[in-house]
Amino acid sequence: MKSILLTLCLLVATLGADGAEAVYKDSAAPVESRVRDLLSRMTLEEKIMQLNQYYYGDDGNANNLVEYRHDIPPTIGSLYFVGSVQERNRLQRRAMTESRLGIPILFGYDIIHGYRTNFQIALGQACSWNPALVERMYHYMARETRRSGVDWVFTPMIDVAHDGRWGRISEGYGEDPYLQGVMGSVAVRGLQGQSLATDSTVASCLKHYVGYGASEAGRDYFYTEVSRQTLWDTYLPPYKACIDAGATAMMSAFNNLCGIPATCNTYTLHTVLRDSLGFRGLVISDWDAVPQLKNMGYTDNDRTAAAACLNAGVDMEMVSATYMRYLADLVNDGTVSMQTIDDAVARVLELKFRLGLFENPYTRNDYGQLYLTPNMMECASQLAAQSMVLLKNDGLLPLDTVGKKIAMIGPVAKDARSLIGNWAGYGRDEDVDLLYHGIAREFSNRSEVRYAQGCDFTETTNETEAMELARWADVVVLCLGEKAAWSGENGSRSTIALPRCQEQLLEAVKRSGKPVVVVLANGRPLELCRIEPLADAIIEVWQPGVNGASALAGILSGRINPSGKLAVTFPYSTGQIPIYYNRRKASRGGNQGRYQDITSNPLYSFGHGLSYTEYTYSNARIEQADQGWMATVNVTNTGQRAGDEVVLWFVSDPFCTITRPERELRHFERIHINPGETKTCHFEILPLRDLAFPDENGKLILEPGLFHISVGDKMLDINI
Ligand code: GLC
Repeated sequence: MKSILLTLCLLVATLGADGAEAVYKDSAAPVESRVRDLLSRMTLEEKIMQLNQYYYGDDGNANNLVEYRHDIPPTIGSLYFVGSVQERNRLQRRAMTESRLGIPILFGYDIIHGYRTNFQIALGQACSWNPALVERMYHYMARETRRSGVDWVFTPMIDVAHDGRWGRISEGYGEDPYLQGVMGSVAVRGLQGQSLATDSTVASCLKHYVGYGASEAGRDYFYTEVSRQTLWDTYLPPYKACIDAGATAMMSAFNNLCGIPATCNTYTLHTVLRDSLGFRGLVISDWDAVPQLKNMGYTDNDRTAAAACLNAGVDMEMVSATYMRYLADLVNDGTVSMQTIDDAVARVLELKFRLGLFENPYTRNDYGQLYLTPNMMECASQLAAQSMVLLKNDGLLPLDTVGKKIAMIGPVAKDARSLIGNWAGYGRDEDVDLLYHGIAREFSNRSEVRYAQGCDFTETTNETEAMELARWADVVVLCLGEKAAWSGENGSRSTIALPRCQEQLLEAVKRSGKPVVVVLANGRPLELCRIEPLADAIIEVWQPGVNGASALAGILSGRINPSGKLAVTFPYSTGQIPIYYNRRKASRGGNQGRYQDITSNPLYSFGHGLSYTEYTYSNARIEQADQGWMATVNVTNTGQRAGDEVVLWFVSDPFCTITRPERELRHFERIHINPGETKTCHFEILPLRDLAFPDENGKLILEPGLFHISVGDKMLDINI
């Protein structure tokens, strides 16, 4: 009897008054019409359910403090989903057949740099300066993710960060707003493709909106002092770029933004995001962020928190269920309007329609090999190679290794997890090609390679063994770095130096008198002031993913010419933080305003990265063009090896009534140049796009006067 009644309800619910099929069921109808029709059929309770994301499954993430749920109602809007395709389809079938309206569940998860096939972390991706390659990586990531039962990923993270003590600097694309925007945009395009209604694309989610990277003292979840001016000129540009690229969703941040938490900040969530940036997509809270308004002292109860967040513009609540508990009551007493509810539900439904979930709610499980395919592994290796940065080279590299003995020493030489980093999704250690194996393969026919650990990440283990091996060797490859868990969420550190035991291992190995290449695997800029003088060469590999070993080996052997450039400044020491290239000028120069005890210069600047060849810049010129100006420069490879050069163009407005940073990146391109070859590079300068500057209300201003355009060691001037 019950099933008959349910069927009847379903039938009534999905037919229009005239008995025809309901518009929302009609895949040929415009999405707007389907949303409007479905909304008109929903009860308040059904609407509220769509604004909730429950946690299903357990991924062992120590920061996910909310208990996961077993009792999943078929009317739930979304799941933070940890599970198999079979599990997804079981839950989805209940939603499609047991709920009155048959609204599919939206399955989301943190797939950040790979579902199972982990690629280079975002901070490393940015150092490749290769947007096309990064887009291809996200395309592969989206395909393995969607075909594994996840429709929506909480990626890309585009928080500008100036403080390496903040562990989440690893998750974004560095310190520059323009580069964050370019890389975030290609991530969005790679993830979403031309349509979301495919089995190879997923919905993106920009995060963490907004200003999270300004966390005081580099401490996660902490207060952020971000003036309106800085909000517009530093933290919002990546969001504007990614919204323009078609991002479908946004995640509100944990931080307290100048006294009003980002998750209930009406100015940023409504006035800026909806009115100024024109974002029409769904906004979800960060994990448990709604009730955390109590911790920040914004309110003392969840009911007020739920009202504040929804009214400010957070459509869906991630896992904390205050919307579930209080929204009906808040609507009934008028604190939250039905229009607010309908607007939020409409954005959830629109995303589900665009994903094609009503027509294809289930995931096939007959795809064959999804992970670690040859194309994906080739992409992972290429991206790893192009993102590795040669920080120092006294001439030791590439290694002359015929008949040589190579000692591989250090905690990272045979460690897997430190190569795939944090937020590794379903990544597995056994998938990772270890650095030791990559180098042993690369030099197998000409050298002997041996290994000793020397120390683990935090403790000396067997320094004697390491020193004996160093004495045996002709050259030492010392692999140091961070544990995966040391960066990412809740990964704040008081110093960006490596643990002392790792520096001591270098000192010990150096006493052997042999040349040492230091290889670094880490998720943040490091303090290398004690390491740099002892190393003959230093290579930053970041956390290169499952296939970084052959890339590193290729750089050591010279098979690959290193081409990565830093997307984040490496301070000389932690005490210099915050330090970043696009700072504003001081009121005094010379020795005034400089540290009295250490240098005031970084160890390695934004854009730094060495090659095995040399490039010269010449014949820089600028001509008036239709829309603005065309700047041009010739770049010549004056060395003996072919290589990729990353050409960076900066603008400077030396005098402006809103003082500008010393210089600002506005264009770049990565070009391949053969020995002796010269290539011409262009930067089309559009005044409003490239020379204007936002004021504290986001209004672009362009004051007449002198502008410098700099590229390589050349500078060009224009007057407007
Ligand atoms: C976490 C992170 C966010 C992540 C979300 C789901 O706390 O802040 O980046 O996407 O919650 O895990």
